[in-house]
Amino acid sequence: MSLLSRITQRPRVYNRLHALGVVNAYSQTHPEERACLCRHIAKAKSAVEIGTFMGLTAAELARALPADAILYCVDPYPGGGEPLQQIALRQIVRAGAAPKVRFVRADSAGAVASLSAQVDFFFVDGDHSYEGLAADWKIVK
Ligand SMILES: C[S@@+](CC[C@H](N)C(=O)[O-])C[C@H]1O[C@@H](n2cnc3c(N)ncnc32)[C@H](O)[C@@H]1O
Repeated sequence: MSLLSRITQRPRVYNRLHALGVVNAYSQTHPEERACLCRHIAKAKSAVEIGTFMGLTAAELARALPADAILYCVDPYPGGGEPLQQIALRQIVRAGAAPKVRFVRADSAGAVASLSAQVDFFFVDGDHSYEGLAADWKIVK
């Protein structure tokens, strides 16, 4: 296990290092995957990311959106997830994308009432279990 992987298990430590600019937000997505998502999101007016974690993908997606668009970042951040949410918020602020982002601290099912009625783009990256994806898919449909 690399040092970076080990530090991702310690959100409070990671948050401090991120605040100091020692580490960037972590994501399992590949830069080319994010570039592909950014191409597809570029004309959306309203977009949703289910599962935001440290906000690396959210920051890039929000930057790629038109100026008047909104990205809803849905994540329950369970079990004392404040440090992770702080990292995500900082990552998005540093990307200059904060005006386009709304955090919804809930799981996908609990977030529905907070989303706009029309959503042009979903990035589903939350609970990757069969049951989790099935629940997310009901919302996307
Ligand atoms: C793989 S990470 C997301 C990474 C992020 N999309 C990125 O690439 O930067 C998964 C996140 O989904 C969140 N999550 C788990 N179940 C969820 C659900 N039902 N609805 C929304 N988020 C969920 C977890 O708290 C975790 O932060």
